[in-house]
Amino acid sequence: MASLTEVPAFAVKRVPEVHFGPGRARAIAEDAAALGHPRKPIVLVADRALVELGVAGRVMAALEAAGAEVALFADIAGEPRQQQVEAATDFVRFNAAGLVICLGGGSAMDIGKVAATIACTGDGPADFAMDGRPLPRRSAPKICVPTTAGTGSEFSSTNVFTNQAGKKVWVWGAQTKPERVILDPELTTTLPPDLTAWTGLDAFVHALEASTNVRQHPWTNLYAHRALGLIADALETAVREPLNLGARGHMLLGAAHAGIAIDNCGAALAHNISHALAALGPVHHGLATALALEVVLPWQVAADRGPFAAAAEACGLAHDAAALPGWYSDLLTRCGVERRLPAVFKEIPASALVAEMRAPETQSMRQSTVRAVSDADIDRFAAAMLALA
Ligand SMILES: [Fe+2]
Repeated sequence: MASLTEVPAFAVKRVPEVHFGPGRARAIAEDAAALGHPRKPIVLVADRALVELGVAGRVMAALEAAGAEVALFADIAGEPRQQQVEAATDFVRFNAAGLVICLGGGSAMDIGKVAATIACTGDGPADFAMDGRPLPRRSAPKICVPTTAGTGSEFSSTNVFTNQAGKKVWVWGAQTKPERVILDPELTTTLPPDLTAWTGLDAFVHALEASTNVRQHPWTNLYAHRALGLIADALETAVREPLNLGARGHMLLGAAHAGIAIDNCGAALAHNISHALAALGPVHHGLATALALEVVLPWQVAADRGPFAAAAEACGLAHDAAALPGWYSDLLTRCGVERRLPAVFKEIPASALVAEMRAPETQSMRQSTVRAVSDADIDRFAAAMLALA
């Protein structure tokens, strides 16, 4: 008889209702009617870029054509900051929204989810961050409509923003999850090649870290390994052929599966580094995370006891952890990723990055890493990252 390894205890979190399909977002008024309040307005929280592209306008028009009253909050660009979350919360509160629709990438979704959740209180996002005040049990319902295939925020109970002190912090809680997720590949076709690569690699790292860190378990690995396969197959095509709906659909599903995985099992060292970098200067989260993984992956797979070999196999490689780093570097090259951090990081001393990688806010990701991360390891990785500036 085969030896059966004992499965450790685990729990699986709620996955929101999902509706997938090219063009599915055109039926958003039906979703709003199903979940919203008949006499209260809808607040649409959207990235400013989607207003400029006309995407937010089309969503508003579809809702208004069905008789809904819609108020738009679109003061969102770049990574979320505390003032943006506060402004969005005030906006949802002022409009007494009966439904919040979050349209965009991780920034719009994280901001919209938090705003919808806490608008019924008299408090701001900083009051709830890092397990501060408990979140209210009931809030306006939320629908997430991602327009990038990356963060998986639409499945996540973690919502990140940069606070007044410049630190990345998060509001965490199942109450922030949406009631429904609309996955429409057509909405992702306007994403330019660099953002397609960076956001797609962020999703890849979510799946890899969720399936290899100390909290990984067999149930969530179903999602994580599926995500690795979908992204491995589709990312390069999505970058090179923006209008390829097959590739865009695979990426959207890959990011969704990765989002479910990271919501259950969390991240690891590459995210420790990208969060630490974000505390020191502006850098796209996906780019920072993708570059950080390339730096730490050879060190991680060297001590593999199985999870990285399984991840390699999920990517279409042999069941061999040692095959992953070279393949991953090649993937970055095929997707046109320049190994370069923004110039602002040239001025930042390694000691500053080391301090952020050791800061309380980033320790959960250090500690969940499958190999123990020593202070000497942090010194070495911080120097390697800043050499990319
Ligand atoms: Fe990420």
